[in-house]
Amino acid sequence: METPLNNKENLYRVEFEDTAHVGIVKSGSTIMKAAQKAGVYIDTVCGGDGLCGKCRVIVKEGRVSMSPNSLLNDDEIQEGYVLACLTKVLSNIRVQIPGENRLEKRPVFEENHKYGLDAYNGANKHYSLSPLCGKGYLELPKPSIQNHLSDLERVKQEFDSTIRLPIMRVDFENIRSLPFLLRSSDFKLTATYAYKEGAFEIIHFEGDDTSGSNYGIAVDVGTTTVMANMINLNDGMICATEAVYNSQIHYGADVISRIIYSQENKKGLDTLNSAIVKDINNLISKLVKKCGIKLKDVNYAVCTGNTVMIHILLGITIENIRREPYIPVLADPPAINAEEIGIDINKKGYVGFLPGFGAYVGSDITAAVLA
Ligand code: FES
Repeated sequence: METPLNNKENLYRVEFEDTAHVGIVKSGSTIMKAAQKAGVYIDTVCGGDGLCGKCRVIVKEGRVSMSPNSLLNDDEIQEGYVLACLTKVLSNIRVQIPGENRLEKRPVFEENHKYGLDAYNGANKHYSLSPLCGKGYLELPKPSIQNHLSDLERVKQEFDSTIRLPIMRVDFENIRSLPFLLRSSDFKLTATYAYKEGAFEIIHFEGDDTSGSNYGIAVDVGTTTVMANMINLNDGMICATEAVYNSQIHYGADVISRIIYSQENKKGLDTLNSAIVKDINNLISKLVKKCGIKLKDVNYAVCTGNTVMIHILLGITIENIRREPYIPVLADPPAINAEEIGIDINKKGYVGFLPGFGAYVGSDITAAVLA
C-alpha cells in the first residue's frame, strides 16, 4: 500500500495532468473534492450527485474506488474513465481531464470581452456621468474667536458650498478622527461621499488631496462567469476588465442544482457564498494591481446577476425561489456596506445592486436592457 503524505491524516496527492495543479486530500475523499482544492474546474451539471455523467476523468496512475453507476460503459471503464464525484482517492494519483470536461479549455471570456472595455468606452459618450460616489477636496476656513463653528459643521458648510450636494450622514468613525485629521492637515482634506437610499453620506476623510483617484467596480455575477470592470469614476472610463469562472461551478452548473446543493448540505449556502465572495475579491485585487491604484480609492461596487446569484452573494436563503409560488426574499436589494458582505474595497464603501423583478427575472436582465 502506498504511504500517504501525512500518516496522521492519511493525505494523498492528486495531480491533474496538463494543468499545473495538485490537490491534497484525505484518503477516501472524491476526485471532485481534490479538483476543488486544486482550483481545477470540472463540469458538474448535477452538482456532484452522480446523475449527469459530465465529470468524467481518466485515472492514469494510482488507486481509486468508484461507486456503482450506469453512466460509464465497460469500454470507458477499461480505458480508466471514472466519475470524479463518485470516485474515492486511495493513494497518490494522476488524473487527466478530457478536454470537453475541462472548463479552462473553453474560450468563455472572448464573448464577454466583446461587451467589455472597447465597446463600453465607445458607447460611453452617450451617457452623462453621475457616479454613485465622488471625492471633494476642501480647504476649510480656520477656526477663530469670530468663527467658532464645530469641526463637523465647518466641513459640512464647505462641502455644501463647494460640492453642492446635500449630505445627510457622516460615518461616525470618521467623526471621531476628524479633529485630529483637520489639525494635522492644516484644515485641508478630501471627503469621499457615496449615495445610499436617496441621500449622500460622507464615508471617508483623508488629509491629502486624493480627489483625482476615485474608482468603482461593476460586477456581473454570472452563474458560469464572473466579470468585473474597474471604472474611473472621475471620467467614466473603464481602466481594466477581468473575468473568472464562478467557483460555485464545483457545486452545480446551474441555479437549480445550486439551490439543491444549499438545501442538501448543512453549510451549503455558506459554501456558495464564500465561493463567490472570494471570486469577486480575487477580481478586485487583480484589477487594483492592473490599474495601479489603491484599494481605499475603490469606493463603490455595483453588482448585477440573476436573482439566485444575488441572494447567494448576500448570504440570503434561496430555497423559496425553487418552490411554488417562487418567491425571492428581495428583488431590489438596498446598497450595503461592503465590509458587511466581505467585499474588499474601501471598508466604508458600498455595494449596490441593479433592481431585478422576481425569482427568474433578475438584475442581469435589467443590466442587459439598459446596455
Ligand atoms: Fe454529475 Fe458527477 S455525475 S457531477
